[in-house]
Amino acid sequence: MPGAIHAEGLVKHFGDVRALDGVDLDVPEGSVLGLLGPNGAGKTTAVRVLTTLLRPDAGRAEVAGLDVLQHPNEVRRSIGLSGQFAAVDEYLTGRENLQMVGQLYQLSARDAKARAGALLERFNLADAADRTAKTYSGGMRRRLDLAAALVVEPPVMFMDEPTTGLDPRNRQALWDVIQELVKGGTTLLLTTQYLEEADHLAHDICVIDHGRVIARGTSDELKARTGGERVEVVVHQRDEIFAASEVLGALGQGEVTVADHTRKLTVPVSGGARLLADVIRDLDERGIAIDDIGLRRPTLDDVFISLTGHAAETENGNATEGGDGKAADDAVKETAQ
Ligand SMILES: Nc1ncnc2c1ncn2[C@@H]1O[C@H](COP(=O)(O)OP(=O)(O)OP(=O)(O)O)[C@@H](O)[C@H]1O
Ligand SMILES: [Mg+2]
Repeated sequence: MPGAIHAEGLVKHFGDVRALDGVDLDVPEGSVLGLLGPNGAGKTTAVRVLTTLLRPDAGRAEVAGLDVLQHPNEVRRSIGLSGQFAAVDEYLTGRENLQMVGQLYQLSARDAKARAGALLERFNLADAADRTAKTYSGGMRRRLDLAAALVVEPPVMFMDEPTTGLDPRNRQALWDVIQELVKGGTTLLLTTQYLEEADHLAHDICVIDHGRVIARGTSDELKARTGGERVEVVVHQRDEIFAASEVLGALGQGEVTVADHTRKLTVPVSGGARLLADVIRDLDERGIAIDDIGLRRPTLDDVFISLTGHAAETENGNATEGGDGKAADDAVKETAQ
C-alpha cells in the first residue's frame, strides 16, 4: 500500500523505561489514525520510530510501502512530520521559513513562494509573515511548523499533538486543513490528548498507555464501551464530597469518580436531563450546596477510567499493569470487528 502505515511489535526501551512495549498499528491509505494516551504513554516515541528518527529495539514498520529500517531516506521523502515541539528557524521570517522548506524539497523559487503565501493565509499568519519567527507567540510557531509540514503535501503525514497550545479558532482552522488533506487522499497519524479532536478527525483510534495498546476502535466504539453520558457535580465544600457521592452512587450507573482538589464528582448515567433534575433534587434535599452541575459526553479520561479502572494521570504509575488493560483491549477489539 503506497500510502499506508503498518507497524508490528514495536519495542523501545530507554534504560528501565519501556517506552514501547510491543505496539502494532495499522493506518489504511487515506485514513486518519488518532493515537491517544496520557503523558509518557509512548506516543512521541512511536512517531519517532515511524518517521525514521529512532531505531526500535524490536519490531518492524512500513510507511508508504517502505521498511523504515531498510529504506529510511526513501521513507523521509514520502512523509511530512510536525513534531511535538515546533521546529522553526527563529531568525527567519515566517515566509522565509516556508520558502526554505519548499526549496529543500526542490520546488522552484516561484512555486515555493506561491505555496508559502497560500499556507500563511490558511494558517492565519499572513499579517505576521514578514516578521522573524522569534517574535511569534507559541501558537503562531506551532502553526508555522504545521504549515512547514504541509509545503509539499506528502502522501503520509505525522502530526504529534498538532493542536496543543492553539486557541479555539486556530484549532478549528487546523481541523479544516486536516479534513481537506484527508479528502485529497493523505494518510495521517495524529497524536492527541483530546478525544474530542480524535472524534472530529480520526477514522480509528488507538489508545496507548505504558507503551502498550490498551484499546482500539472508532470513537463511537470506545465511547460505547465507556458508557453514555456523565453527570458532573462540583460541590461547594470539600466536606460534602462524601454525601454527594452517595447521592450520585444511588442515581448513577457505575462508580463515582472523585477529584478531591477540584471537589468534582463524576458518574456515568442514563436518562439524560431528567436524571440531572433528580440529582439536583436529591442533593438539595440533603442540603448539599453545589457550585456547578452538568451533563456531558465521555472524555478521554472516562475512556481511561473505564478501560483500566484508574485515572490516566500518573506518568510512572502502574495503572495499566497486569491483566486489566489487556483484557479491555481484547474486549474492544471484539466489539470493533
Ligand atoms: N530520549 C529519551 N531518553 C529517555 N527516556 C525517554 C526518551 N524519550 C522518551 N523517554 C521516555 O519514554 C516514555 C514515553 O515517552 P514519549 O515521549 O513517547 O511519551 P508521549 O506519549 O509522547 O508523552 P507526552 O504526552 O508527554 O508527549 C516516557 O517515560 C519518557 O520519559
Ligand atoms: Mg509526546
